[in-house]
Amino acid sequence: MAVRPIIIAPDKRLKLACKPVEGVGKSVRTLMDDMLESMYASNGIGLAAPQLGVLARVIVLDVARADNEPQPLRLANPEIRWVSDELVEREEGCLSFPEHFAPVTRPERVRVAYLDHENRARELEAAGLLARCVQHEIDHLDGLLFVEYLSALKRNVILRKLAKTKKLAAEAAD
Ligand code: NI
Repeated sequence: MAVRPIIIAPDKRLKLACKPVEGVGKSVRTLMDDMLESMYASNGIGLAAPQLGVLARVIVLDVARADNEPQPLRLANPEIRWVSDELVEREEGCLSFPEHFAPVTRPERVRVAYLDHENRARELEAAGLLARCVQHEIDHLDGLLFVEYLSALKRNVILRKLAKTKKLAAEAAD
């Protein structure tokens, strides 16, 4: 396993749609493991392959609390099969938008079909934080970022701040 750098917004690569994987073999499993390690290294609860620059429909999640055993989930080709009518608004963040959080409204419950790390077809039924996280990560696979749910004004404030931070970091590295 290896920690790989996470792409920070604004970046065109985060807005591209990802292709399904043909199946989960050794290379996809390695990607899943690298994604989990990169996610844990940044104290995240979810990560999508495009955030590492890989345009494949693969996501990982772990919403276990710090005092619980890790509960890693590895999903390839995840597809939302059902969402609840009940919607909830909750603060959301993203490892590609460090230090920025904003309320987003999403369905409270979802059912998702996917391939697991051993290429088995499975379904996940989720509520609360896990449901929110899985929807956020699946959005990434279609190039949809959580800031797209915000007003243009709020989105642009966040993107401008991130662009400025990146510029300062690049200058400091010169
Ligand atoms: Ni994200």
